[in-house]
Amino acid sequence: MKRWNNTDFTSSSVGERVVLKGWVSRVRDLGGLLFIDLRDRSGMIQLVVKPESLCYETTLSLKNEYVIEVVGKICEREKKNPNLKTGEIEVEVEELQILNEASPLPFDLNHVTALEDTRLKYRYLDIRRKELQEKLIIRHKIMLAARNFLSQNGFIEVETPILCKSTPEGARDFLVPSRMSAGKFYALPQSPQLFKQLLMIGGIEKYFQIAKCFRDEDLRADRQPEFTQIDLEMSFVEEEDVMRIAESLIAHVFKEVKGVSISLPLKRMTYDDAINWYGSDKPDLRFGMKIEDVTTLFSKTDFTVFQNVIQEGGIINCLVVKNKGDFYSRKEMDKLTDFVKTYKANGLAWLKWGSEITGSISKVISFEEKKNLETKLHLEENDLILLVASKREIVKQALGALRLKLGHDLDLIKKDTYEMLWVVDFPLFEYSEEEKRYVACHHPFTAPKEADIEKLLTDKAHCYSKAYDIVINGYEAGGGSIRIHKEEVQEKIFESLGFTKEEAKEKFGFFLEAFQYGTPPHGGLAFGLDRLTMLLTDTENIRDVIAFPKTASGTDLMSACPNEVDEKQLQELYVEIRKKD
Ligand code: AMO
Repeated sequence: MKRWNNTDFTSSSVGERVVLKGWVSRVRDLGGLLFIDLRDRSGMIQLVVKPESLCYETTLSLKNEYVIEVVGKICEREKKNPNLKTGEIEVEVEELQILNEASPLPFDLNHVTALEDTRLKYRYLDIRRKELQEKLIIRHKIMLAARNFLSQNGFIEVETPILCKSTPEGARDFLVPSRMSAGKFYALPQSPQLFKQLLMIGGIEKYFQIAKCFRDEDLRADRQPEFTQIDLEMSFVEEEDVMRIAESLIAHVFKEVKGVSISLPLKRMTYDDAINWYGSDKPDLRFGMKIEDVTTLFSKTDFTVFQNVIQEGGIINCLVVKNKGDFYSRKEMDKLTDFVKTYKANGLAWLKWGSEITGSISKVISFEEKKNLETKLHLEENDLILLVASKREIVKQALGALRLKLGHDLDLIKKDTYEMLWVVDFPLFEYSEEEKRYVACHHPFTAPKEADIEKLLTDKAHCYSKAYDIVINGYEAGGGSIRIHKEEVQEKIFESLGFTKEEAKEKFGFFLEAFQYGTPPHGGLAFGLDRLTMLLTDTENIRDVIAFPKTASGTDLMSACPNEVDEKQLQELYVEIRKKD
């Protein structure tokens, strides 16, 4: 067994005889003396082999990433290296044994220039790098801190099944064919949602789980098909109770893992305000630049584009970029226009403030309109105003995305800071253009606000829920809700989602049955562990924080999966492959 971390030794260990094992990171020949950088998980230590040493020849044969064991004496270094934990010492090697050789590596671990795909194919080699190991260690610390906190607060960790029943609503399921029940399928859980609620009916009262979840959805930089939640549920609670415990958990994790103090309670913003001001339900508050509504300033405008938008019930909103009037060239303004067009905006109008007001609409809006803009937006010399006029959803989405782009491009985002908030009062339903009906914003078990229960069937667009999301630096780090525990409310929700009693029974029967037998009021929340780790390791790529991640197209390049399987396996599962159309 390896007895210690190679970097446990310092100048106070000088004179000690030690046995070290690890990987050869590099061998250097400095005029007869051979230096080996020996690496283990804890870091690097320098070994020195003198020409007269019996292991000199063996050392000359060493290549990068050979696995070796040495016996030697700790000595003080002549040339100290302040950048290394063991920089004051080195080990004078007396015996050296090669435990295993290594073929030349597909990429150099000391200077990684390889493409991500190559690194993913040889993930086990990439994991040898300090950068990745540090991220995995932080992930471990987050899990440990969360487990400790929740356990100390009376939660117990209960595992829930991975082979489940497929239930509608939410993302697409991954399916697993059953061999024992021909033609039937299990689904992998999108989250332990139903099970954790059943645990509340089971009297567990405070549940948590570090749970694997699976969703067959289009991937993004912060999404994986297989990801992990820190999932919790509590009985006899209201929104305040869950939010309080969840933010204390986050504060504990940030303190334990990074020494960062988070001041509680976290600020709160309603969903409607978040959309109005930031064009997003996960606003990044590390910089300002709120979206401003200037529709009323143009109510009598002669500019036909704005006139038409207002007549059709649309809005005119803008962003003010302080003191950046001279930042973008005309060509770059065209690029910003193309950018907002990807969000279905027809165009981007812009004005540069100054003694002379220039820009795409400077000639078509009146002097009075300019004056009104100046007063309302407190415009000053060299400010840039970017306007979008369209339907509300389009304007908010386009300017929300543009705000983030400007934040990055103009370097407006505060570094080394965590801006956290709760987004609350989500709508209960959202209209799905695809399905041409209202669907649940969260899931169909989310409790409506008390005052909205009577509107469930008559005014779906204005029903709000007891749901809450925790947002950190523009990421949705977690979300949850108080659940419905009364049968009559649940029935009403199903009715408003367009399910008949029979359909609801068929789809959620076992779950609804459980609700008849004394369900406590309950609620909970789940944090995305991968996203928390991204935030605590300062990476924007979710693959950096998962040991063996999938690519954006859902494949594992290392094991080449998904893959075809034997005909025999398919037969056993009663599955026949249909050719892709
Ligand atoms: P929700 O679907 O909001 O809620 O998920 C909770 C949190 O999980 C993370 N997350 C993801 N992380 C990586 N890749 C993905 N594909 C992915 N999808 C979600 C996010 C998100 O905030 N059962 C409910 C929770 C509850 O109501 O208690 C649920 O799963 O950080």
